[in-house]
Amino acid sequence: MKADAIFQEYNDHILLTYTRMPAIFVKGKGSVLTDIHGKKYLDFFPGWGVSNVGHCHPKVMGAVREQIGKLIHIPNNFYNPHQAKLAKELIRIAFEGKIFFCNSGTEAIEAAIKFARVHGGGKRFEIITTLNAFHGRSMGALSATGQEKHQKGFGPLVPGFKYVPFNDTAALKSAINDQTAAIILELVQGEGGVNIATKEYVQAVARLCDEKNILLILDEVQTGMGRTGEIFAYKHYGITPDVMCLAKALGGGLPIGAMIVKNGLADLFKPGMHGSTFAGSPLVCKAALGVLKAIYADKMMKNVKLQGPYLMGKLNELKSKYDFIKEVRGLGLMIGIELTIPGEVIFKECLNRGLIINCTQGNVLRIMPALNVTRRQINKAIHLLDGALSAVTAHSQKAVL
Ligand SMILES: Cc1ncc(COP(=O)(O)O)c(C=O)c1O
Repeated sequence: MKADAIFQEYNDHILLTYTRMPAIFVKGKGSVLTDIHGKKYLDFFPGWGVSNVGHCHPKVMGAVREQIGKLIHIPNNFYNPHQAKLAKELIRIAFEGKIFFCNSGTEAIEAAIKFARVHGGGKRFEIITTLNAFHGRSMGALSATGQEKHQKGFGPLVPGFKYVPFNDTAALKSAINDQTAAIILELVQGEGGVNIATKEYVQAVARLCDEKNILLILDEVQTGMGRTGEIFAYKHYGITPDVMCLAKALGGGLPIGAMIVKNGLADLFKPGMHGSTFAGSPLVCKAALGVLKAIYADKMMKNVKLQGPYLMGKLNELKSKYDFIKEVRGLGLMIGIELTIPGEVIFKECLNRGLIINCTQGNVLRIMPALNVTRRQINKAIHLLDGALSAVTAHSQKAVL
């Protein structure tokens, strides 16, 4: 199929739920994507946080290739050795507990919402989340997402959600009442603009949850799997959650999500209370095991700790060059560049020049390269971004004249 025919098919037969860029990718390796015309792009936002180990990592490809010839799917009323092994590995690197596997971040959040309601025993059903959070798009996860722009038009929402400002302990304290069942928190708000929770705040939240028997549910769908330089972001904060939601990078591109519940609570879910037809199949679990192997064998978190500050330093150099860059902030390789001007035109200019980044909240450029990104690739990306920023500056100056 030629490019024009593909665009036409999308136009004719696919719902317009996304704003798509006119690029058709057909191949990927590491941090490089190749489009249908053979043009190469440096991917500094691989799969919106899905491809942490880079595109087509040999350990993931090998695991998938091996499994696909044997058995793809088996329903969850039977046992599957790869799900058992993946659960064991995840518990080993997270905290003592048990796992429910699902297919996406939204589903991991839905599972956590149901779990919180069961834990609350019917009396405590309210869930507090933060403004600018993003937890997914199903009705439960959307109701947990404290952003009107995503909720508009879909009301009535699921009752029982309250939103408080992020990083504001006092606001959280005053929102808690006898009906509070849980708090759902992103430690770094991704879609919300790369807002980083402070250590004092997170520790205060954990203390409050402990004191009041409220579940602390961490949404590590985007921050998990090494993104911030620790395998899970909570490890930066000296706390352990009661429940943790994972997805995105866990399957290296295959759809898998997980809700991990700490021991002592784990047996609240009984047979028949929750489930999923596709979840945790041999194929996706093998892919996830390949992802874990890749992260640890290739020492990717060490690379994040090395390249994250280097990339932040380079971006701060751009900040001193362009006065419309307000702030560069990040944790590991989860980085946001807040602008005083709209970011979309810059994101598009980057794409034209062969650099994939993202723009969120209208004015925050988001950069989340693969965990194994090299210094050379970072230097190239900075060069391309610099070019895009200066082209946009020149263009807007011309528009003023
Ligand atoms: C923090 C967070 N939670 C939940 C989700 C929803 O995940 P999914 O798109 O896999 O359903 C996302 C997606 O971007 C996310 O960033």
